[in-house]
Amino acid sequence: MIEIRVTADLRRQIRTWKTAGDSIVLVPTLGNLHAGHLALVQAARTHGHRVVVSIFVNPTQFVAGEDYEQYPRTLEADLEHLEHYAVDLVYCPGVSDIYPDPTSPGTEVSVPALDGIFCGASRPGHFTGVATVVTRLFNLVQPDKAVFGEKDYQQLLLIRKLVHDLHFPIEIIAHPTVREADGLALSSRNQYLDESQRQAAPTLYQTLCSIRDRILSGEGDYGALERYGRQRLEEAGFRVDYVSIAAAGDLGEPRDDDCVVLAAASLGRARLIDNLRVGG
Ligand code: PAJ
Repeated sequence: MIEIRVTADLRRQIRTWKTAGDSIVLVPTLGNLHAGHLALVQAARTHGHRVVVSIFVNPTQFVAGEDYEQYPRTLEADLEHLEHYAVDLVYCPGVSDIYPDPTSPGTEVSVPALDGIFCGASRPGHFTGVATVVTRLFNLVQPDKAVFGEKDYQQLLLIRKLVHDLHFPIEIIAHPTVREADGLALSSRNQYLDESQRQAAPTLYQTLCSIRDRILSGEGDYGALERYGRQRLEEAGFRVDYVSIAAAGDLGEPRDDDCVVLAAASLGRARLIDNLRVGG
């Protein structure tokens, strides 16, 4: 496993592989790897010759007042995990490698159709930060494919749209959400939960399951279902950002059976998100 921090070294290695005809699969991460990330890495292995994992805590996707400074940075442990997954290259750039102009944020990429709704509404600028860093990583690594988790469903759709609109010759592979035995989606932010919050946390997934089941059994009043979800989460101690039923393809108004139930809610300082597809 090659570990690279410097852009010139990355470019040289990528060029060598491309010249040899090797396909490259990228798994972008913020690090602090857990079994959810590692499932993506394992899937990546089956999709091409060379697996590249990027580890970069991207400052531009953290909104003012969020946990950028506190976000867990565990590079040594991350590298150890990745050694067991036949990863070819770990790219761990510094902030100045990704954002070379220290005086300004530089060129940004925004996806207006998706970046102002749901998580984008409560975290203004977050998705522009995501779109910008992923574009830069795509240009640096030049992957043939990239793997993203369905756990961050809005992010996944945003990346698909970005790839389509900017004509990146990259196939986006979606990986299902990896969960704890009690249903809680794995997330680096779960470690912010204290014991009683951890006990309450699976209510998020249970609530999404109830809403999905009620839709599948014919309930059509989505507004009532969203209110039910919000109330159930509040009763479990969550501060609810949103519980919504949206079209699975573009997060617009649900038009047919193919929809997704999405929720974001906080317990203490842990902001948790989750989603479940209903039809499709
Ligand atoms: P991060 O939160 O580290 O997640 C990296 C990738 O792992 C994302 O594609 C995310 O959807 C996926 N992932 C996280 N938890 C998962 C789980 N429980 N099951 C399945 N997949 C899971 O998402 C980001 O980083 C950043 O926004 C990034 C795309 C790297 C841009 O900075």
